[in-house]
Amino acid sequence: MKDKERIDGQILRLEDKYKDSGQDLSSYLDGLLYQRYLTYWDYINLDTLLSLQQPRTYFPDEEIFIMYHQITELYFKLILHEEKQLVDDRSQNLDFFIQKAKRINSYYEAMISSFGIMIKGMEREQFLQYRMALLPASGFQSAQFRMIEIYATPLENLVHHSKRDQFSPKNSIEELYEAIYWKKGATDLATGEKTLTLKQFEYRYTPRLIRISKQVHNNTIYHKYLGLPPEKKDNKALIEALKILDANANINWPLMHMGAAHRHLANDKGEIEATGGTNWKEFLPPDFQKIVFFPEIYSKQELNDWGKQWIDHIFNPNKK
Ligand code: HEM
Repeated sequence: MKDKERIDGQILRLEDKYKDSGQDLSSYLDGLLYQRYLTYWDYINLDTLLSLQQPRTYFPDEEIFIMYHQITELYFKLILHEEKQLVDDRSQNLDFFIQKAKRINSYYEAMISSFGIMIKGMEREQFLQYRMALLPASGFQSAQFRMIEIYATPLENLVHHSKRDQFSPKNSIEELYEAIYWKKGATDLATGEKTLTLKQFEYRYTPRLIRISKQVHNNTIYHKYLGLPPEKKDNKALIEALKILDANANINWPLMHMGAAHRHLANDKGEIEATGGTNWKEFLPPDFQKIVFFPEIYSKQELNDWGKQWIDHIFNPNKK
C-alpha cells in the first residue's frame, strides 16, 4: 500500500513536470517502458575511450606514452571543471573556495605522484625512436594546460619574467598575450626561431585562448581572492590551499615533468635531437619561468626563491 501511494505521488509530480513544459507524460512513460537498461560500458563510453589509443609505431611503450598523456588531459579537465566553478561563483563563500582549491590539489597530487610512469615506466631506447614518429607534436601544445593558467591568474602574471615589469593590467589582452612566457618555449636552440610546434599551436588556439582571457578579465581565481573581505582573505586554510595549488601547478608538476625530459632527452653530450633541438633546458625550469598565480600571498623572499627549493633534488635525486 505504501509503495502504491508513493508511486501515485511520483506520477502526479511527473504529470505536473511534463504539463508545465506542454508535454505528454504518457508518451514519456512508454519511452521508459521500451528503453534499454543502461550499462556501465555505455554510460562511460568505454568502447570509445578504449579505441582512442592509436600508436604510430610498433614500439610497445608508445601506448604508455599516449595513455598517460590522455590520463593527464582528463586530470586537466577535472582541474578546469573546478576552476570554472570558482570563476562563476559570486557567493564569496570561504568553504566553497577552500573545497575547490583542495580538489584541484588532489588532482595535481595524483598527476605528480604518478609521473614515475613517464620517468621509470618507459624504456628510453624505445622512447627516443617512437618520439621521432610524433614530431613536431609535443605536450607543449596542450591547450588545457594554458587554460588552467588563464583561469587562475591575470595575463600580466603570465608575461615572461624578463619583461614582467614592463607590463601592467593597463595593457590590452592582446599585448599581454603576445608577451606570455610560453612563447619563449619551443624555440629552436640554434636560431632562436619559433618551432613548428609553437607556430601550429598559436595558429590553432590563439583565438580561443584570447576569448577565454577576455571572458575572465578581472575575474580570475586570483581576482576572486583579492576581492574577498579582509577577514576572509586572511583565512589560514584558504591561503594554505592556494599556496599548495601554486606550488603544485608551477613548481612540483613542472619539476616532475622536467625529470622525464632529463631522463629521456638529455645525454652525455647534451644533445637533444628528440625534441627537434629546442631550448627546453632553459625554458622548463620553474625558477627560470617564475610563474606565480597568487603573488600577494607571498613574502618578497618567497617570491625571490620561487622554484629553487626542489631543483637540486630533481637534478640530483641522491643529494637529498
Ligand atoms: C617522456 C615524457 C615527456 C617528455 C620527454 C617531455 C618533454 C617535453 C619538452 C622537451 C618540453 C618543452 C617543449 C619543447 O621543447 O618541445 C615539454 C613541454 C611540455 N610538456 Fe612534456 N614531456 C613529457 C611528458 C609530458 C606529459 C605526460 C605531459 C602531459 C600532458 C606533458 C605536457 C607538457 C606541457 C604542458 C609542456 C609545456 C610546459 C610549459 O610551458 O612550461 N609532457 N615536454
